[in-house]
Amino acid sequence: MSERAQLDAINPAQRARLRELALAAAENSYSPYSRFRVGAALLLEDGNIVTGCNVENCSYRLTSCAEQGAIARAVAEHGPALRLRAVAVANLNRAASTPCGACRQTLTEFGDDDTLILYPGDGGREEETTLGELLPDAFRPDSLEPRGGSK
Ligand code: THU
Repeated sequence: MSERAQLDAINPAQRARLRELALAAAENSYSPYSRFRVGAALLLEDGNIVTGCNVENCSYRLTSCAEQGAIARAVAEHGPALRLRAVAVANLNRAASTPCGACRQTLTEFGDDDTLILYPGDGGREEETTLGELLPDAFRPDSLEPRGGSK
């Protein structure tokens, strides 16, 4: 299937469901410091959906983003071979927001350039893009492999 066909294969109802689940996950957000309540929903290649929310910490820097929580849960529940078809992020703050830089890298570990990313835009508009658009020329697991050249 072409990249375009793969994206189109996630139909509008599935997209709406993923956004809804991400928003529902944000209800459980532990964010007493930022009060920015975020949820994420991952659609795995096998059709399973896994959600997560942000979990903050009084040391601030130990905060875990919604996407990172969802990935950790997905690996725990579905194993290390999982692949991402789509990711929805949502927040209860009516803010436009895409996955942060660290989350883009985390998602890249389990996704591809054509993994669909659903996010809230300005004025509550439902926006979408791909992981490849959000993190071009990403450092990937196969970046660790030697590629010819002299030793
Ligand atoms: N946050 C996420 O959960 N995901 C993102 O991609 C952006 C930021 C959280 C982290 C922190 O708890 C709060 O939003 C404010 O940055």
